Amino acid sequence: MTDETAALLERDAENYVKELFAGDAGGHDWFHTMRVTRTAKALAQKTGADPLITALAALLHDADDRKLFDGDGASLPHAAAFLAEHGVPADVSARVLTAITEVSFKGTDSVVPSSPEGKCVQDADRLDAMGAVGIARAFAYGGSRGRAIWDPAEPRATETDGKTYERRVSSSVNHFYEKLLLLKDMMNTDEAKRAAERRDRFMRRFLEEFYAEWDGADV
Ligand code: ADP
Ligand code: NI
Repeated sequence: MTDETAALLERDAENYVKELFAGDAGGHDWFHTMRVTRTAKALAQKTGADPLITALAALLHDADDRKLFDGDGASLPHAAAFLAEHGVPADVSARVLTAITEVSFKGTDSVVPSSPEGKCVQDADRLDAMGAVGIARAFAYGGSRGRAIWDPAEPRATETDGKTYERRVSSSVNHFYEKLLLLKDMMNTDEAKRAAERRDRFMRRFLEEFYAEWDGADV
């Protein structure tokens, strides 16, 4: 595939997901996909992963998310149809689809992606759940599901296996304990680890401040 064909394909994929995510206010908007794509491409460049596979997997990584679309989350009808309709060679398409299936967070049952491209996309997706942007997304997601910001009476989420994670309905602050504060130690690439440490410190600072204000300790 020429560079020009690859660039056109990437642009088509951008437009495709832009339409798909139009109107989402639950933290899965098109800008999330674009941030993940930008970060994944930067990680790919630093780690030597294939740029096109990485870009396509990043662009399509949430196109079949079960929280947004009907489906079992295992077959990827949107992503597969996009790749087929754009004449993407079968071997490229297979690598993109495998990377996508390995990305998602399932508590401590999450998988380590089998390819360098999958590792870059997974790191990029997780970085976007952390830091200032991650905090904003957590409360946007919780709000979109009608959940409380925090409920002090709620037990802290300590069990982090995939099944419990999937079933739990918790306040948004509890989401930090079931997911966001675990991500720092789950990065694949050294570059992402460094960024994750910074974002993790910021989230911990945020929580300290949050509890202090909640208790009126600062007045
Ligand atoms: P991703 O797009 O990173 O794969 P998810 O689909 O798991 O993430 O969720 C989208 C966003 O909503 C992420 O920022 C995630 O941390 C957040 N989120 C997921 N579940 C919850 C929850 N129960 N409470 C608050 N935020 C959540
Ligand atoms: Ni995502």
